[in-house]
Amino acid sequence: MIESLLQERRTFPPPESFARAAHIPSAEAAAALRREAETDPDGFWLRQAAQLVWRRPPTRALDASCYPFVRWFDDGELNLTESCLDRHLHTPRRNQAALLWEGEPGDTRVLTYQQLHREVCRTANVLKSLGVRCGDRVVLYMPMVPELVVAVLACARLGATHSVIFGGFSAEAIRDRILDAGATCVITADGGWRRGKIVPLKQNVDAALRHCPQVRAVLVVTRTGESVPMTPGRDHFYADLVRGQSAVCPAVPVPAEHPLFILYTSGTTGKPKGVVHSTGGYGTQVALTTRWVFDLRDGDTYWCTADIGWITGHSYVLYGPLLCGGTTLLYEGAPDTPDKDRFWDIVARWGVTILYTAPTAIRAFMRWGDAYPARHDLSSLRLLGTVGEPINPAAWTWYHEVIGGGRCPIVDTWWQTETGAILAAPLPGATPTKPGSCTHPLPGVALEVVRKDGTRCNDNEGGYLVALRPWPAQLRTVWGDPDRYRQQYFSDIQVDGRPVYFTGDGARRDEDGYLWVMGRVDDVLNVAGHRIGTAEVESALVSHPDVAEAAVVGRPDELKGQAIVAFVTLRAGRTPGPEMQAQLKQHVVHEIGALARPEEIRFTEALPKTRSGKIMRRLLRELAAGGKVQGDVTTLEDLSVLQRLATSADEE
Ligand code: WT7
Repeated sequence: MIESLLQERRTFPPPESFARAAHIPSAEAAAALRREAETDPDGFWLRQAAQLVWRRPPTRALDASCYPFVRWFDDGELNLTESCLDRHLHTPRRNQAALLWEGEPGDTRVLTYQQLHREVCRTANVLKSLGVRCGDRVVLYMPMVPELVVAVLACARLGATHSVIFGGFSAEAIRDRILDAGATCVITADGGWRRGKIVPLKQNVDAALRHCPQVRAVLVVTRTGESVPMTPGRDHFYADLVRGQSAVCPAVPVPAEHPLFILYTSGTTGKPKGVVHSTGGYGTQVALTTRWVFDLRDGDTYWCTADIGWITGHSYVLYGPLLCGGTTLLYEGAPDTPDKDRFWDIVARWGVTILYTAPTAIRAFMRWGDAYPARHDLSSLRLLGTVGEPINPAAWTWYHEVIGGGRCPIVDTWWQTETGAILAAPLPGATPTKPGSCTHPLPGVALEVVRKDGTRCNDNEGGYLVALRPWPAQLRTVWGDPDRYRQQYFSDIQVDGRPVYFTGDGARRDEDGYLWVMGRVDDVLNVAGHRIGTAEVESALVSHPDVAEAAVVGRPDELKGQAIVAFVTLRAGRTPGPEMQAQLKQHVVHEIGALARPEEIRFTEALPKTRSGKIMRRLLRELAAGGKVQGDVTTLEDLSVLQRLATSADEE
């Protein structure tokens, strides 16, 4: 199904000094955990859940009676902020740093567990005063500042479901998500800093809210100090309301299955897809994987560079490290501001020990050159991680040598917005790594590579990556659209006559049982680690008055993983050319955000389609990547279209 071109043979055993001190110190210890999870899955997961603070401890693990709708720990009750914060208040950890923060301009803040607890309580009291109650949805559209962490936890404190929208999204995208979630309160900031410029967050919220009458309250954090228009009765400055609020706010206990958050992700239709995560199962598995995969412990300075607007930020900037009582670092800005050594400067100044970032960032660092990391002392690092797409062995090697000094294990972590927590990764004290492989499913997780008919693939045979069994942190549904949940994830592949969760990824297992993920089998684009639905970009293009039709594909891009190439058919009488190209790119930025800006726009008279009218993106991908179509074209409706497309490319 998918050809595998990677030829990587090297293996790297865990360094002995690392393994000796690790939570899981050997292959034998890892094997024992796997056995435990296989022989008594319910007991295994209940013991893991017991690491959280419960108001009412669960007595059951998985309930699959309504499969594929599943429940975990469902007779338990908890408030996850008590596991993140309250439990530390009566231990020496209360005076340890929970949050280390650095703004792009260079300002810094440190919040201890005790301070963070107080801020969260105050903010929860503010939200309460604005009418936010358990079960309400609150949208957050904020820069990477401590108040974002505080606001997320304040929602959770009240049992309000948070939905963080990445700060790069446009007003239209915010509007769609607020409406879909039925949010009644929005938390934002006047702006945020990015490459020395102000991102106008409040302005975008104002534009979005013109179409969202159900939003009653907007809370505005002051970050840049720019003056922003405030709508009386609706908008409030955070600083005004938080002043005088009590630092005590009882946590509202919720059932384990209560939706902790909704996170929107791209699907293959234009409609935003709200991935719903639970409280008890999510918290259990995120805490567990943080401890196992990052080997987090007291004394670590842990830095995951993801934005909290993505799942990686939810699970491994915020909840995971706080649930483990760790110290998590937050950086507001860009990696090349003021210079291309900003990350290494941060690592050295804060003494970062664990660094978790994306292959797209690593490729950018490689291109910028070794001189930037060489300016700084990176000897504090002891573990490196990657996530978001397959890491090519060249980038892996560079990361290992230049950043890790050859001494740090690399954990290549495979997971998804939908999985909530890491499902496949090395256990750094136990698993020998191979550059480019996420190694094995974690104990308790049943990932498998199968054929379309559900039979297990042979070694090195490319197939579909599926999960044979539910796991605690999995998405529970698509917000407001349970049919879409079943349809999207459980309708493609059956194993032994039972639908299984299909990840959408292609993968293979090598002769040593190592997993190699080869990317998505559908048309979703992966630009700089962001998954963008082709359909969203296409509908943005088509919403321009001059555009008749558009098809969008990814072209391999050394830096971003994929660059977006759009094939556009204009309406009759419109003039193609550089001016129109610029206009359309700008239009996509306006509709979706800069992350979806097409790298290239090609005008064409017609698009290659199947008889049923489906655009054949595979052909366009081949054209965009190399200029020639080599694959099967038998289902193509009108062969002359290809001819014309190829010529139009030559003319550019
Ligand atoms: C997709 C999920 C979950 C965090 C960030 C992205 C790809 C993710 C890896 C990896 C190969 C990976 C997959 C997956 N992916 N991690 N270590 N090796 N591919 O979350 O936006 O939900 O994307 O990213 O294709 O399905 P996401």
